[in-house]
Amino acid sequence: MKPGIFQGRSFLKLLDYTPEEINCLIDYAAQLKKQKKTGISHKVFTNKNVALVFEKTSTRTRCAFEVAAADLGIHPVYLEPTGSQIGKKESIADTARVLGRMFDGIEYRGFGQDVVEELAKYAGVPVWNGLTNEFHPTQILADLLTIREHFGALKGKKLVYMGDARFNMGNSLMVGCAKMGMHFVACTAKKYFPNDALINECKKIAEETGAVLEFIEDPISATKGAHVIYTDVWVSMGEPDEVWSERIKELTPYRVTMDIMKNAGEQCRFMHCLPAFHDLNTTIGKQIYDKFGIDCMEVTNEVFESDKSIVFDEAENRMHTIKAVMAASL
Ligand code: CP
Ligand code: NVA
Repeated sequence: MKPGIFQGRSFLKLLDYTPEEINCLIDYAAQLKKQKKTGISHKVFTNKNVALVFEKTSTRTRCAFEVAAADLGIHPVYLEPTGSQIGKKESIADTARVLGRMFDGIEYRGFGQDVVEELAKYAGVPVWNGLTNEFHPTQILADLLTIREHFGALKGKKLVYMGDARFNMGNSLMVGCAKMGMHFVACTAKKYFPNDALINECKKIAEETGAVLEFIEDPISATKGAHVIYTDVWVSMGEPDEVWSERIKELTPYRVTMDIMKNAGEQCRFMHCLPAFHDLNTTIGKQIYDKFGIDCMEVTNEVFESDKSIVFDEAENRMHTIKAVMAASL
């Protein structure tokens, strides 16, 4: 059954939600997933329209919103990165007020978190964050559902994030783990740790939930006993190409290899929000190989393709969790 407490609420970052509310959304997603798998219709909406605004490209998030909308009986309208006036000819506040008059909900993927917060302030309808530089909350819901499916629980589970932990994925995983009483480790060079303000906010949450937060530079001690080793691309959307060389140099010690997985232990699973640079079958992957001579970046192909890798369960769960967020707030 649809939980009533989310009606009319935006989903901008996990910091805005209590652990109980996050659990409730995960439960609801699990229920919708079961309905989908068993062929039980959940087309519960009629006459609802949602806008999907993307200022950056996407495969999973866009498809998750579109398929979830179709399953729920909602009509989605996709606005591609160059397909609207947003920000260029029309302010965020004006765009929000226009879209809010036509749509029942708005998904936004873009740059600053301040933009999605401003959209929500002016839209008058729920706004869902489909990724900003700072946070990627719908990804974390999918990750939490996936971890729960594989390990049966979240509390006390150890998740080690390797790579650039200052950006959307590192930040959001730290928040998600803090909220759910998990053991979060940022395993990277010091300059890639999340910022102090967010760490302090998460430490306060951890005092309430029993979560453990650690920031460790040595990959061997950091990954010991991990349930999940998680990584993401070393250069995120919107960052300049010039940073590749520095990132490759500084983050190569934090590549997820089979040795790291073995060091973690038999129980350990590999997760990645995707897309991932694990082979040479991408244009950027080939360009990096030509320039730097490396055939993978944040994760080896061996780990990515191994039976420890649960990245496609994770990708599928984007759809079930996004469906839960949309259905609960409309
Ligand atoms: N994980 C994720 O957000 O993927 P997309 O960029 O394909 O949406
Ligand atoms: N950190 C990545 C996540 C992609 C889902 C990016 O922002 O490009």
